[in-house]
This record gives sequence, structure tokens and C-alpha cells, in this order.
Amino acid sequence: MCGIVGYVGREEAAPILLDGLARLEYRGYDSAGVAIFDGTKLQVAKTKGRLRALSDMIQGGAAIHGTIGVGHTRWATHGAPSDVNSHPQVSRSGRIAVVHNGIIENYAELKEFLVGQGVGFASETDTEVVAQLIEYFYEGDILKAVGRVLHRIEGAYALGIICADEPERLIAVRKDSPLILGLGDGFSFLASDVTAIIKHTRDVIYMEDGEIAELTREGVKCYNHLLQPVSKETSHVDWEIDAAEKGGYEHFMLKEIMEQPEALRRAIFPRVKDGQVVLEDFTLDDDYVAAIRKIFIVACGSSYHVGMVGKYNLEKLLRIPVEVTLASEFRYMEPIVDEHTLVIVISQSGETLDTMAALREAKALGAKILSIVNVVGSSIARESDVVLYTWAGPEIAVATTKAYSTQLAVIDLLGLYLAKKRGSADDERILTAVRELLMLPSKLEQVLEKQEDIQYFASQYFNHDSIFFIGRNVDYALGLEGSLKLKEISYIHSEAYASGELKHGTISLIEDGTLVVALATYEKLFDKAMSNVVEVRSRGADVLALTTEGREEAMAKNANAIITIPDTDELLLPSLGVAPLQLLAYYIALMRGCDIDKPRNLAKSVTVE
Ligand code: AGP
Repeated sequence: MCGIVGYVGREEAAPILLDGLARLEYRGYDSAGVAIFDGTKLQVAKTKGRLRALSDMIQGGAAIHGTIGVGHTRWATHGAPSDVNSHPQVSRSGRIAVVHNGIIENYAELKEFLVGQGVGFASETDTEVVAQLIEYFYEGDILKAVGRVLHRIEGAYALGIICADEPERLIAVRKDSPLILGLGDGFSFLASDVTAIIKHTRDVIYMEDGEIAELTREGVKCYNHLLQPVSKETSHVDWEIDAAEKGGYEHFMLKEIMEQPEALRRAIFPRVKDGQVVLEDFTLDDDYVAAIRKIFIVACGSSYHVGMVGKYNLEKLLRIPVEVTLASEFRYMEPIVDEHTLVIVISQSGETLDTMAALREAKALGAKILSIVNVVGSSIARESDVVLYTWAGPEIAVATTKAYSTQLAVIDLLGLYLAKKRGSADDERILTAVRELLMLPSKLEQVLEKQEDIQYFASQYFNHDSIFFIGRNVDYALGLEGSLKLKEISYIHSEAYASGELKHGTISLIEDGTLVVALATYEKLFDKAMSNVVEVRSRGADVLALTTEGREEAMAKNANAIITIPDTDELLLPSLGVAPLQLLAYYIALMRGCDIDKPRNLAKSVTVE
């Protein structure tokens, strides 16, 4: 995923574009660039490396003058990170520049055609093909030229386009990659997401797939793919700009870990009234709910791990089959889905291409789609029948934390809501869980107070080159998330294993000093979890155990070190248990000198297959 931003107004564009790119850098950060019209031509500055390298190259923007331009921060897909493969990509005359987020799937055949027309290429990118093709069709109207190109390119793309021959307008195009327009007095913006422009305007238009927009100092005009005008509603963004700032923390990730109690309050409290779950956005009727025969949960990464917890919890509450599947697998497994299948799609960004494709597949098979999403107005949210927003606020760190936690809370709320409607759990059971949900933020605050203890454990373990997470039931699902957090920011190899499965092979890897994080919060299986601790200790492992406060003494007999969480309803154990694992990963990565907010090779939302 990449970040794109464009500005046309009356102020110097370069500093504005750099500031916008800095707020988009979490989307991709292996190279960056800008193209600005300086009164006679397009000035293009771009470079491999972080945004800082670009800023230094143009003296923080002072070296390029002009009041209209586009900028880009890249997560490479076609063509390795390099100066020449950085965006903006430029047509051969140098008069058209393009920034792009997505993939042009038929770029090779288009490139072959253009080469046959005598067009030379400088880069390995698919994006340069777009710039060259626009110039090929350009006959004095950039909007029309872009319209012609869109009938020929296939794939996912958000495009920002500037033309030196028409330096009063920018062109924006959206298909399967997010793009918003920012509106202001005497200026307009295009951007991959709101964080890039909220400093300048809160009035935005969410572009839909297939739409083209023309941006000028007077405002924006939107068209469909046939260049017929379309009218669009303006939305007002109401969250605070400091939500997208570090707020004194060293990393966004730590800030977002510590924000979790407040994020949970936003996700839970408006949805509980008089001890009952109230989901005002749930618009599926009672007859449909009663007739649900199966639930499919589809997601990627940490959102998939939420689905794993959701499977255990929803099956306990609803007593119907709940299948949880990776979105990238769902699409190709000929899933058994019909009109009585509720498909729950979970996505923080609401833009993950694998998940979006799975959503469309499920819809085509007749399923209703309920999505649990953080980014308001995102593509997945807009294509769902029902959207339950997590209200976590903007999450900047690539490694998700508060979005994961609020997703967990929302899927638990959904399970309790459906259980009430279907009568599959008694009122007392539901009331007990709801009461614990309301106490979850304050109990999580107690867990986060153990930050320094966990920092100490990290100092003991940060040099390990392989770490196991073992658990049963919801503890196994929790272990999956703990393991991913560790892997993606510390680069330590790690595996999460169902404890009962160790003896079927993997225990052969346990040797003196192997670190095993044993998750034992699920009371009903505590004795089993304990026997697994003994099993790995007897083979030389060091065990860091996570259990509930009531079981600390029992666990102390066998574990080398213990982290505890307050007792809570079994449905909510992962919501408390995840915080120590997030902090453990954070501090291990910190001690290993890793780039915590922007881990290598990753991006905040994966909008490619
Ligand atoms: C989470 O820490 C990872 N960055 C990644 O696994 C992420 O959860 C996954 O890419 C899904 O993203 P989404 O929730 O935005 O769809």
C-alpha cells in the first residue's frame, strides 16, 4: 500500500505535500517523491529511502516553488525500491506526472504496445505505463485523456495526476484503492486517507470506485467512468488531529497500546443500555437472524486472529457452526455459503484487498455481509450490508493494537446481541458478560500498569531467536496474535501452537533455553495448560506464563516467570491477555533497535494480492 497526496491552492505546495506524506508514511516507506508545477514546467524530486531523504533533498520544500502538485510515499510492488522506480512517474515529455497506489494488472501488454509506438521507459514500474498512456491519448484535455486510459487499464488504482499544460487542475481517479478529496476556501486536496489533510480541512468527499475528479482552487467536480458528472455528498470528519500524532510517546504503537482502555469505552459504552446490548446499526431483520444456519468469519492477519477468538465465543453463545478463514484462502476454496450464512468481515483499514475480494465472493454466493471496521467510509464498510465500526480512532502503527482490541469487543457485543435475539443464551448469562464488558476498560488499565514488569521480561528474552506461544481454546487464539506482534516488529521467528498439539511433532524443537510463552487464562483448561508447562519445562524450556490472578500461586510452581491478568468472563480473557503480549513484543523490538512503527517489508493496509 502506498500513500498519495495532491494539493492545488494559493500556498507553496511543497511543504504541504511533505507534511501530508509524513502523515501517510505508515502506508509505505521505501521511497518518496513530489511533482510540482513551478510556473513553466513540472519539477520532480524523488528518492529511495524514507521521507526524510526527500525532505532533505528539497530543503523541506523551500527548493521547489509552485502552488499545485502531487506527492507519494511508496511500498514497492512492481520494481524494487530505487530512485527511478519512485513516484511520481513521468511521461516521456515530462509534462504529465502520476502518483499511484495499487497495481495495474495488464501493465505488461500496455507497455509492449507503447514500446511498439516508440515510447521509451525509464522505470520497471506499472505506474509509468499509466503516465505514458495518458500522454499517448493526450490531445489538450487531461480529463479526457485520463478517461480514455481508464477504459484500457485493469487492476486496483488510486491515481493523482498533474499536467504541465493545464496547471490549474489536478485529476484524481479511484478504483479499489481508497481516495478522498479535501475541500477548502481557495484550495482542494486529494489523499489516500484523512490523516494527510485533516490539518487543513475536515470537509471531505469519499470517492467511489470508477469515479474521476477534477480539483481546482474553486473546488472539485466528480464524474463517472463515462465522464458524466456525478453529485457527491460532503462528509465532516470529527476526530481530533492529535489522534494522528504521537502525543509524547516514543512510538505510535506504544501510544495506541496505552489508548486501548479509552478506545474500548468508545466501542462498548454506546452499545450497552440497561444491561442489554443495543446495536442500532444492525439492520438485518429478526426473521433473517433466526434463520442464520452458519457464520463465516473472513479476515487477514490480526483481524483473522480476532476471528479465531470470535469462533470460540460465538459458538459458545449461539450454538451454530462458526467457520473462520483467511480471506486469501476463502476466495479459492469454493466456500459453502448460502442465504442463511452470515459472513462477518473484519478489517481495521477496510481496504485489505484479499478481504475485499472475499467479501465480494461471499456476496455473490448470496450471503449477508456484516463488517467490523475501524476506518469510517472505507471500501469494505461501504460494500457491507451492516457495518459495526470499532471507533478506535486512527491507528498509525503498522502493528495493530487498539483496533484489534476494539474488534474483539465488537464481536463479543455482536455475539451477545445475536444470542439474545435467537434465545440461545439465557438472560443471566448475557447480563454477566455485559457487566464484565463494561468493566473491561478499567481492568485493562490495571494490566497496563504492569508495563515495567513486562519491560523487565523483555530485557531477559530479547536475544532469543525463536519463541513459542502455546495455549488451548481462546488462549491458543490469543497466542496467534501474540506471536504475530512479536514477529512483525522484532523480526524474531515465533510460532503459536495449540498446546495439545506440541507432542505431535513440534516439541522436538524444544531444547535447553527455548522460550515458551504459555497462555493459561482459560480456567476450564488450566490443568491441561499446566501439564503442557511441565512438559516443555522438562525438556529445558524457559516458560513465561500468562494466567489469571487467581492462578498465580499454582503457576508459580512450574513457570520461570508469570504475568497475571484480572479474572473476567471467559469471553473477554483475550481482551485482557493481549495487552501484556503487545507490550512484550514492543519492548523486545525496542531493545533490538527495530523500527517499531514502520517494520521492514510491511505496510499498514495491504491493498495488493
Ligand atoms: C497487524 O498487526 C498486521 N499489520 C496485519 O496482519 C493486519 O492485521 C492485516 O494486514 C489485516 O489488515 P486489516 O485489518 O486492515 O484488514
